[in-house]
Amino acid sequence: MPDPRPPETWSPATVAVTAGRPRHEPDQPLNHPITMASTYGATGDVEYGRYGNPTWTAFEEVLGQLEGGRCLAFSSGLAAVATVLDLAGQDALVVAPRHAYNGTVMQLADLESRGRLKARLVDITDTAAVARACGDAALVWLESPTNPALEIAEIEAIASAAHEAGAYVVVDNTFATPLRQRPLTMGADLVVHSATKYLAGHSDALLGAVVTADDQLYDVMKGRRDLVGAVPGTLESWLALRGLRTLHLRLDRAESNARELAGRLREHGAVAEVRYPGFGGIVSVVLAGGPDAADLLVRSTSLWVHATSLGGVESTFERRRRWKSEPASIPDALVRLSVGVEDLEDLWTDLARALDALP
Ligand SMILES: Cc1ncc(COP(=O)(O)O)c(C=O)c1O
Repeated sequence: MPDPRPPETWSPATVAVTAGRPRHEPDQPLNHPITMASTYGATGDVEYGRYGNPTWTAFEEVLGQLEGGRCLAFSSGLAAVATVLDLAGQDALVVAPRHAYNGTVMQLADLESRGRLKARLVDITDTAAVARACGDAALVWLESPTNPALEIAEIEAIASAAHEAGAYVVVDNTFATPLRQRPLTMGADLVVHSATKYLAGHSDALLGAVVTADDQLYDVMKGRRDLVGAVPGTLESWLALRGLRTLHLRLDRAESNARELAGRLREHGAVAEVRYPGFGGIVSVVLAGGPDAADLLVRSTSLWVHATSLGGVESTFERRRRWKSEPASIPDALVRLSVGVEDLEDLWTDLARALDALP
């Protein structure tokens, strides 16, 4: 029977479609079933529902192959973040971007306030300063592009400075996805995902993931997941697996829409600043009319949906500072757009009409 594991030479699009399938055999389903099980027949490899599930494994095989490592799925992106931060020992120093996803920054603040570790927040675009900050770190957290400032980190340079200091390097790869950036090939020890976003891609499931090519780190992460129980839902894993099959198509379309919209937004008088890193589907704009104009904009469209989160097929947007946890260095009038896969002209007509109508 043919081996369903993809050859090494297959491109990411082929891996996304092909990996994690049952063997090609007569009457075998092409897709893994949704295995609802809290326990298994004794003396096997899994034993209990907190230790493993074939539907999780199928998702993990695909994402692991796309990132170039071994993957573990978690109940949410933040459960994955918490598990990785737990690598830092008592009183250890964690270096992280001051503009990392605010849930990550809040976890660091919470751990620091309880005397668990020390956090040093840095401007991730200043590579020399980050490298200096790594000197006594145990763990260096990167997010690139950052959410929602869309700053880019020089991952290779920072990873080598961090490794010289003996620190682990983690990259939250939620925005770029493995189709635009593969941090394990750039010096990272671990990759973290909110699979809730582009990987699942349909705004219907919460899921997280950790990927590493280091077997020892994999065992530590798996041990923590087993012990703490931040395990993924079976249905959510299956939805994310189904989403992964079309990641390349969705991302290509969202990206081409986003690139074109970023260009048009730069020409619009109601927009003071456009941030777009040149890839991906997220664009951040700062409204010339301030936070009131931003609040009015998100209430004035019919196609664009005012909602948090990102990476779904539908276009959504929000003023990020409406969240009290968003740092004051994020402009008050910044609106983060998660560009979906709809028709470009429909998106632009709706957005331009709302921008034109701003006072
Ligand atoms: C970059 C990034 N990392 C992590 C998370 C947390 O993921 P989740 O919402 O799946 O817990 C998010 C959520 O917005 C995010 O944008």
